[in-house]
Amino acid sequence: MSQEIALQVNNLRVSYRAGEQAIPAVNDVSFSLYAGERLGIVGESGSGKTTLALALMRLHKPPAYILGGEAILGDGKDIMTLDREAMRQTRWSRLSLIPQGSMNSLNPVVKVKHQMADAIEAHERGWTRAHINKRISELLGRVGLPDSVAEMFPHELSGGMKQRVCIALAIVLEPSVIIADEPTSALDVVVQRVVMQTLNEVQQQLNAAMIIIGHDMGLMAQSADRLAVMYAGKMVEVSPIRSFFHDPQHPYSQLLISSLPSPEEQRELAGIPGSQPSLLELPSGCAFHPRCPVAEDRCKVDIPQLRFVRADRRVACHLVEEQPA
Ligand SMILES: Nc1ncnc2c1ncn2[C@@H]1O[C@H](COP(=O)(O)OP(=O)(O)O)[C@@H](O)[C@H]1O
Ligand SMILES: [Mg+2]
Repeated sequence: MSQEIALQVNNLRVSYRAGEQAIPAVNDVSFSLYAGERLGIVGESGSGKTTLALALMRLHKPPAYILGGEAILGDGKDIMTLDREAMRQTRWSRLSLIPQGSMNSLNPVVKVKHQMADAIEAHERGWTRAHINKRISELLGRVGLPDSVAEMFPHELSGGMKQRVCIALAIVLEPSVIIADEPTSALDVVVQRVVMQTLNEVQQQLNAAMIIIGHDMGLMAQSADRLAVMYAGKMVEVSPIRSFFHDPQHPYSQLLISSLPSPEEQRELAGIPGSQPSLLELPSGCAFHPRCPVAEDRCKVDIPQLRFVRADRRVACHLVEEQPA
């Protein structure tokens, strides 16, 4: 992992309009994604992970809108300010997404090769049929599928195979940043691990940086180099994966870890007392304070900023002390 930055997100804010109100689904999120690294993002359902992924691709749809912030790629371009044509050229070729639930949105009655050819032709105009077929076979190979899959319909494929096709579709243009939104959630446990392994291999071969969104701590332990925890639209901790598991800093992270039997064991986020607040009526101060076992008076008043508490760790909690490296 280098310190070269593949994507720098600064103060990104995305809301959903709800009548007169705005739901702050991504609330002032900032993070760096280093070239070649795998950053996991975890958080309970509704914490803003998918909204973040879609906004980074500028694929969010109304009532979602971007209020502000930057997302700067390695070449210095800010995704948030690209015009339509520049965004079209950037999407899938520099930055690509495996959308949440994508394996169930493959067209069941269109052969895999036609869906892949469409993705290729959308960008590579003028390729011959032979050239396209060769590329399809190459891409299927990369995700561990035999050529014969090209002639099949998605409804003939297992969940794991469909998800591999979705991974292949995301890497048609060899992006330098891949965002995978819950890439394995609909699969059974064994298949989850092998599909995640394939995704990791693909990412390494392309030397891409990857954001893996999920709520499965076991899979994160298997894949991620660093982990970011989201709570009610904010990142509350960003840490290298080992330090996170061994010494979680944010009280929410500590509860997440203590609810796990072991990092290796398959477990979804669960077992934290209380529930996430409504985004329309966020608690004052730290949004986690009503559930926090160590909250103090100031936590009800001041919103904690995500700040460095170690050389390589950021935490948004008033009670975590900074320690010199
Ligand atoms: N289409 C929508 N309309 C209004 N609000 C939405 C919509 N989609 C998501 N939200 C709001 O945004 C929040 C974050 O959703 P999402 O990004 O899908 O979370 P996650 O992927 O972490 O489960 C939700 O809690 C909900 O309040
Ligand atoms: Mg989601």
